[in-house]
Amino acid sequence: MQNYPGKFIVFEGGEGTGKTTQIKLLEKKLQENGFHVFLTREPGGTNVPLAEKIRIMLKDPENKNMCPETELFLFLASRAQHVQRGIVPHLERGDVVISDRFFGSTLAYQHFGRGLFNIEEVKKINDFATGGLSPALTLLLDIPPEKGLERIKENIHKDRLDSEALPFHQKVRQGYLTLAKTRSNWAVIPADNTIETVFNQIWDKVRETVNLN
Ligand SMILES: Nc1ncnc2c1ncn2[C@@H]1O[C@H](COP(=O)(O)OP(=O)(O)OP(=O)(O)O)[C@@H](O)[C@H]1O
Ligand SMILES: [Mg+2]
Repeated sequence: MQNYPGKFIVFEGGEGTGKTTQIKLLEKKLQENGFHVFLTREPGGTNVPLAEKIRIMLKDPENKNMCPETELFLFLASRAQHVQRGIVPHLERGDVVISDRFFGSTLAYQHFGRGLFNIEEVKKINDFATGGLSPALTLLLDIPPEKGLERIKENIHKDRLDSEALPFHQKVRQGYLTLAKTRSNWAVIPADNTIETVFNQIWDKVRETVNLN
């Protein structure tokens, strides 16, 4: 893994687990502590227009006949552009980069959720896309999917990726927990708590990662 002066932090978890809410709080807290923060998200990426175009294709409900291989390669194409044109330049500058989803989502949704692809093969092509970039910390916000989906029910069914049935989301959640068990730089954060309680647990982990006492 490359060594950059900046730190790369990723938020993972199902729909409505509170990723966006917590990321905004974390951005503010880090800025108060003097850090430069680059907030971004997948698919797509902040100020990465080509990756954002791929995001639109992935989300478009008209693309409902997209085959799984096409979906996987579009995610990885978006990620390659995001890493090289968005994330890495900020890490080189010493920023804290926070991404709403990254490779964990590919494994949780494409492998565990859809039950497709050999996990080692997906890792290999992902490493090819990212040059092996791996987050210093992945925060997994965990909540039973029915509770997460309840939180966002007004916005649901608007795009191709959010409109899957509950059993799919349960497989995604279990997949995420399996990934977290075998990876030392992942932290599982119980997300069925107040926004403040969830944030305090996140901040404890992030402080260690950015070397704040
Ligand atoms: N700890 C919490 N308790 C109750 N409600 C919450 C909590 N955290 C977030 N919410 C609310 O739940 C909804 C979803 O939160 P948020 O958008 O942060 O989740 P998300 O993981 O980013 O969802 P998505 O997958 O749709 O991007 C929002 O209305 C938010 O205000
Ligand atoms: Mg969100």
